[in-house]
Amino acid sequence: MSHVAQHTTDTSRYAKCVEVSKRIRWDTDRDVIRGRTFDFGKKFLPDGLSKVGQLPFALTVDEQRLFSQVQGRTYANMFALVERFIGAKVLEISRGHWLGDQVALEALVRLTDEELKHQEMFRRLETMMAPGMPEGYRFLPQPNDVAQAVLASSTWAVLALTCDIELFSQAHYRSSIEPETQIDPLWKDVFLFHWKEESQHAILDEIEWLRENELLDAAQRDQAVNELIALVGAVDGICQLQAQADAEYFVRVAGRSFDAERQQAIQRTMLAAYRWQYILSGVQDARFLGIIGSMITAEQGARINAALAPIAGAVH
Ligand SMILES: [Fe+2]
Ligand SMILES: [Fe+2]
Repeated sequence: MSHVAQHTTDTSRYAKCVEVSKRIRWDTDRDVIRGRTFDFGKKFLPDGLSKVGQLPFALTVDEQRLFSQVQGRTYANMFALVERFIGAKVLEISRGHWLGDQVALEALVRLTDEELKHQEMFRRLETMMAPGMPEGYRFLPQPNDVAQAVLASSTWAVLALTCDIELFSQAHYRSSIEPETQIDPLWKDVFLFHWKEESQHAILDEIEWLRENELLDAAQRDQAVNELIALVGAVDGICQLQAQADAEYFVRVAGRSFDAERQQAIQRTMLAAYRWQYILSGVQDARFLGIIGSMITAEQGARINAALAPIAGAVH
């Protein structure tokens, strides 16, 4: 595609994102929460994402619900965490459109505004979940620390990670959350409304990532691939940290004593679930593979796959 044709296509895609963003725009109180509270008699995160079925022993119905609620609480906190650096990065790259395509600028400003709204919503949800669950839950990674580390990488690598995240959030909703009829209706609605706005974000990530890709020479892109690998490693560190915290919390509050072997199995399963949720379901997404595949060489693809192998190996 010629440069001019590409930019005409981009303008209509930006315009479409603005139009849909205006049409589906929601308010946290009026549309999502609607005066409701969480029903702690119901599951939050669906079994397809929590990987509860991979435990080598059976949990009681109450324990299965707790397993889902702990991970569902972390799921909301994780989105609040990543949206800190996503909002900051998109605000930064919007600079490239300040005196250019005003529709593109509007699309990126709306994305940033939506991520600020989402972060506020997820912070409130945490305060609504805390009183309904036993004390001692801790969400360990700090949004600003993670954002500072991530934003030190090149724009190409940060947009790659962002695109991965915004695509997996959609894949989770469509394949695992939407079909569930037994989970808490408020928790489900949160991710229905979130998904509606994230659909535009994933399109914008793709456009901006491809634009950034055009600005890099081969050596810069090769370096950016290494930075993406390092970012994925950092996300894996977060998965390990929080899986351990959540497994310890679950064991402490579940109401029965698990022997050492079962405690290890709970931690292993939580880690496999978090690696699936926050890394693998995004990087294995067909759309993500199509976008990154159009930018990188076979050797770079092999390097990324080699880095993912130990992470994927833990998921059965
Ligand atoms: Fe979001
Ligand atoms: Fe987003």
